[in-house]
Amino acid sequence: MDGRDLVRWVKAVGSAGAARGPRTVRAAWRRRRADARDLPPRGPERARVPGAVRDAEPGPGGGVVRFGRSELRIVVAVNGAVFWGWDGAGPEPSYALAGRCPDPDPRAVLEPDKDGGWRVVAERVTVAVSRHGAVEVRTPGGVPLRRDLPPRWWEPVGGGPARWSQRSEVAADARFFGLGGRASGPRLRDGAYRLWNTDPGRAFGPGDDPLYITMPVQLVVADAGTHLVFHDNSWDGTVALREGEEGSGSGHDRAGTSELRMAGGPLRCWVIVGTPARVAQTWSSLTGAAALPPAWALGHHHARWGFGSEQEVRRVVAGYHERGLPLDAVHLDIDHYDAHQVFTVDQDRFPKLRALAEEVRRSGVRLVSIVDPAVKAAPGNAVYDEGTAGDAFVREASGSVVRGLVWPGEAVFPDFTHARVRQWWGGLYRERLAQGFAGFWHDMNEPTSFAAFGETTLPRSALHALEGRGGDHREAHNVYALCMARAGYEGLRSLRPEERPFVFSRSGWAGLQRYGGTWSGDVATGWPGLRASLSLVLGLGLCGVPYSGPDVGGFDGGPSPELYVRWFQLGSYLPLFRTHSSLWAGRREPWEFGPEVLQHARVALVERRRLLPYFVTLAHLARRTGAPYVRPLWWGAPEDRALRDCEDAFLLGDSLLVAPVLEPGADRRAVRLPRGRWYDTATQRAYEGPGQVLVDAPLARVPVFARAGAVIPVRGEGGGLELEVWAPARGRTGGGLVVPDAGDGWEEPGIERYTTRLRGGRVVVELEREDGVGEPLHPLRVRGPAEG
Ligand code: GLC
Repeated sequence: MDGRDLVRWVKAVGSAGAARGPRTVRAAWRRRRADARDLPPRGPERARVPGAVRDAEPGPGGGVVRFGRSELRIVVAVNGAVFWGWDGAGPEPSYALAGRCPDPDPRAVLEPDKDGGWRVVAERVTVAVSRHGAVEVRTPGGVPLRRDLPPRWWEPVGGGPARWSQRSEVAADARFFGLGGRASGPRLRDGAYRLWNTDPGRAFGPGDDPLYITMPVQLVVADAGTHLVFHDNSWDGTVALREGEEGSGSGHDRAGTSELRMAGGPLRCWVIVGTPARVAQTWSSLTGAAALPPAWALGHHHARWGFGSEQEVRRVVAGYHERGLPLDAVHLDIDHYDAHQVFTVDQDRFPKLRALAEEVRRSGVRLVSIVDPAVKAAPGNAVYDEGTAGDAFVREASGSVVRGLVWPGEAVFPDFTHARVRQWWGGLYRERLAQGFAGFWHDMNEPTSFAAFGETTLPRSALHALEGRGGDHREAHNVYALCMARAGYEGLRSLRPEERPFVFSRSGWAGLQRYGGTWSGDVATGWPGLRASLSLVLGLGLCGVPYSGPDVGGFDGGPSPELYVRWFQLGSYLPLFRTHSSLWAGRREPWEFGPEVLQHARVALVERRRLLPYFVTLAHLARRTGAPYVRPLWWGAPEDRALRDCEDAFLLGDSLLVAPVLEPGADRRAVRLPRGRWYDTATQRAYEGPGQVLVDAPLARVPVFARAGAVIPVRGEGGGLELEVWAPARGRTGGGLVVPDAGDGWEEPGIERYTTRLRGGRVVVELEREDGVGEPLHPLRVRGPAEG
């Protein structure tokens, strides 16, 4: 938090009587003192490398290779993912894995390699280990995708966790993606990316790193193939990336490099090789299928910090309805709590919250509640008293409960790494359900504790249960929000078993998708913030978290009408479509920016509603296949280098390509198209990819293209499901998958598979069935000229 933010914060929270400026200073001192006392300074260290190879021992799915000063265990799992761990590290325990580690693939064998090395040969990948402990991942054809140099450890002479570093090389043409939610991506250029979930303390833009969700997950795309690497280690770390360069003329190539430095924790990783779709599928089989949001959560959400009263919520909902604008959810921020204390209601300003929830629900609008982990440290506050009695809060090594400073003032933090605490916390959502809330927005869970200087989180020495293993905040920090998401999700499942929980969380880690999605946090209002918000959605999707979206309009300040429209248009094609803003920011209702903006926002809202069945289908496919709804353009063609560098457009599922306008003053834009025929959905004009085209992008709309042959489920005028079919190119076929909405429960609808082709110039659509083909189950709307 910088000085200005501190003043603002004290103004807001101080006026609520919750805190004063000097408290932030005290909180920071307290944290420093605890760390100085409980984390002994690093003394002298001894450096270590694996040393020379000694022998090897085959085991299921691979085996162990022993070196002079370490050993390496390699296991290929049945799903094709490869695990390796140094110094005896195994795949469990792990917060990322969805369940037990998958079984080893009995066909993968460890065998001697040339020059005294060893290798494990599996169906989709070969892992070669050199005499000194370099590890090379190769395609089945033998082409190297990644080469890890022998790792290095630095061990404190007096004992304690070892730091380590791992340097890797990739092809000169490779591009890096992922590492969680990064503002400057999706292509991660040269630089250092920290692995430590962080509230930047102010609205962020592309230069801010790290942010709320970091993950040691990289996706690397090169001509030779695509691979994902996950270092399963939740400690603080840094990844330094440097893209390679191809030598021109007789010059040599310079490899791309990634250097990971971790402050402690096991040196172990998973590597997955394959097409982007296959990598995503295997990653989701390891870390868990994405929770399926209810259909309403795929509609439009309106949030604001500072609605301030029931009347204001009613006014906003009525504002949407009077203007005929679709609205599906309204989010209540901390200002509806009593003195900012979670799981309470301000009875003066929200005296009949339950009745309000029922009233808006009748008009199709759900209420979503913010839930912060920090509990006001005040005896008499029921959650504090209960948590204290149940020993639920994080403690210092000295035994006293860690105190921080968050919105309610002085606060304590549940230890979500303890199953008993998760269960207790999950039960607290009962109060929220009784108030009529339908969904939950987890915030401030990096976890954040304000401080006047230094880091805004808990002391590193703070103790955590870590599922009974015991440890401190250095290990627990990055998984804190993941464990909170689990607590909320599992609590809701048992409190309301007939409905799928809807949870989204500001912070998280690998595996967050099992419990819900996320949003982009406090993105700065401005054109760079607009671009950053797309970067986060794309990057997180590649790391396995498919459901996210930005604060439309940006969190702080007031967007210009043009910026607001462009943000609204982008948001309307992202999984979470939510307008939100800070207490100090301008309003974000679509009618606040004049009639022209309202008109354009209406078009976006109506189109979103029309595409709702497509979003429902994409949500099901994300859950079943791991493929994010929002995909980079190279998803189906990773070998196309121009697509790898294209960051201003995306694929929405298989069928649509969205080219948002990310800069001011544009009324046309260039769009790079992957191979195949694409129709501009506004003009129905056909374009042939690969290549770049220039198309109109008036303020009224952003360019959207449909893939020739696509079958897209849409909501027809009467509200029923219809199939929008785009004519295939001559001599080509197409198709699409449709998963109908089966309500907010757990019923698993079947997938409808359609194929399209031209017969005598006419578009023919068929439903694939086990016994052949059949008639489509829904009315068709054929678009795009069949000829041409
Ligand atoms: C944080 C959240 C933001 C929320 C605010 C108040 O800044 O990121 O979305 O409005 O806290 O709860």
